[in-house]
Amino acid sequence: MRVLVCGGAGFIGSHVVLELKRVGWDPIIVDNFVNSQLSVVERLSSLTNTNLQVCSIDLTNRNEVLELFLKFNPDAIIQLAGLKSVTESTSDPLLYYANNLQITSNVLFSMSEVKCSKIVFSSSATVYGLPKYLPIDELHTITPINPYGRTKYFQEQIIKDWILAQPYDASAVILRYFNPVGADASGMIGEAPNGVPNNLMPILGQVAMGERNSVTVLGTDYETRDGTCERDYIHVSDLATAHVAALQSYQTDKFEVFNVGTGRGVTVNEAIEAYSALLNKPLPRVVGSRRLGDAPSSVAAVQKIEERLHWRSNFTFEDACRHDLRWRRNQHG
Ligand code: UD1
Repeated sequence: MRVLVCGGAGFIGSHVVLELKRVGWDPIIVDNFVNSQLSVVERLSSLTNTNLQVCSIDLTNRNEVLELFLKFNPDAIIQLAGLKSVTESTSDPLLYYANNLQITSNVLFSMSEVKCSKIVFSSSATVYGLPKYLPIDELHTITPINPYGRTKYFQEQIIKDWILAQPYDASAVILRYFNPVGADASGMIGEAPNGVPNNLMPILGQVAMGERNSVTVLGTDYETRDGTCERDYIHVSDLATAHVAALQSYQTDKFEVFNVGTGRGVTVNEAIEAYSALLNKPLPRVVGSRRLGDAPSSVAAVQKIEERLHWRSNFTFEDACRHDLRWRRNQHG
């Protein structure tokens, strides 16, 4: 199966490419490298012992996308390309709407042109907004609280409308990721965001490596078991195999949405402790105030994906920390 992986050089995309190779499929990386490095392709090639095909194109350019599709005539698409900073989306919403919606629309347009019928789309639990109940299932109301989250929801809807309009059988699997963390167990690929990270895991990694003095716990007065926010952290390699499972079970309905998480919550304090245990010394922490828009708790209901796609998470949060540290040390070694 020939699969175009749009955004294939990014944090999640690179792990998806690796898992596709591991099941013997033929992934082609499509990326503009605005938020990823070309070196990831070399590392993926050496990990998989192949020369991976990579196309550096501008996915917002319809002609470039069409040319690519005509050249490769893919069997399926995994669409992960897009801008992903919540903060930036709030300060420059038009950039996010123009970029993210245009990319998905160009991909769908070209799929029609070459009669490609399968798409897996990278969505986010952020589309649910502040949880009304826990765990969050796929029927939870959709109320994204920032432009980034809205672009994800709008892209889901664009895909749904596109499927209805196709004269041939087309289908989509929408994966709503909870909090992706960790790195491949090889330590060869991992998260390498450009600029200063805002997310908890890369910050813990930087403190562990001595690149940052401490982690600030953003609020200790939440109604959770230890007062700090709780999240469903999903190992990126598990997340990647969910894409493979989505492509393997294409007898599913035409448009199907799945949460991808572990079904278990980890608090900020527990996350710090897990990373500290790995280092055999406590990571320095500072207590800070709440961050605007943070939900006290966010945990996935995972029954649907387990039953329908026969997928479940395999790695623990401790595994994710260990692999993340291995990746960081590798980069410095
Ligand atoms: C964020 C994004 C979400 C995105 C996800 C990627 C928002 C509102 N949501 O989710 O769209 O898909 O990242 O993983 O930005 N924390 C600290 N100290 C820090 C940083 C974070 O205590 O320095 C806490 C936060 O309060 C939060 C938890 O750690 O409770 C996780 O934060 P983060 O990694 O930023 O993820 P989310 O906010 O859940």
